[in-house]
Amino acid sequence: MQGKSIIFDPFITPNPLAAGIDINSLKPDYLLITHGHYDHIADAVQIAQNSGCLVIACFEIHEWLQRQGVGNTLGMNIGGTADLGFAKVRMIPAVHSSSFPDGSYAGHAAGFLINSPELNLYYSGDTDLTRDMELIPDICSLDAACICLGGHFTMDYRDALRCAEMIRCEQIIGMHFDTFEPISIDHKAALEHFSAAGRKLYLPKVGEHLNI
Ligand code: NI
Repeated sequence: MQGKSIIFDPFITPNPLAAGIDINSLKPDYLLITHGHYDHIADAVQIAQNSGCLVIACFEIHEWLQRQGVGNTLGMNIGGTADLGFAKVRMIPAVHSSSFPDGSYAGHAAGFLINSPELNLYYSGDTDLTRDMELIPDICSLDAACICLGGHFTMDYRDALRCAEMIRCEQIIGMHFDTFEPISIDHKAALEHFSAAGRKLYLPKVGEHLNI
């Protein structure tokens, strides 16, 4: 998207699966955060301070980041749209909880819709399946969607397929799986479940590049 880079929900330093990534090398233009849980926000402050990127998040997370010394933040809330020039970023609901690692309130859990001339992308954050997803095709025609599917803390891959059908998206990139034991998934079963329905599921490895 016009050479711009976005990182979503950085959970790298404490994540043994991401051991090969040096967060000090990450210099995104934007950092988008869906909610305050540790496995989504762990490296946000350091990446933001290293790169000076604009951090977009729910208003409560924006205030928390400001208190941590991160100055370049944009606080918004569900239903709001930020115009970044090359793309519009809309914050949409997720059915999930949201608190900071110390237990304090982190606002409403969210997902994002990224609309640009090159790519329309849905990033679900952590969520259950919800009928709200049926509104997404009214907003934009999706090229791809990053959807949580590990179960236990979010919907599982069976509901992720129902989500793909509700949002009318052909290319699904799985997220939020295998990091912890309760969200370990059977890759073969998940891939076959999608292919049997004629939809493409990607389960990328950490560090893997996908061209959409
Ligand atoms: Ni969460």
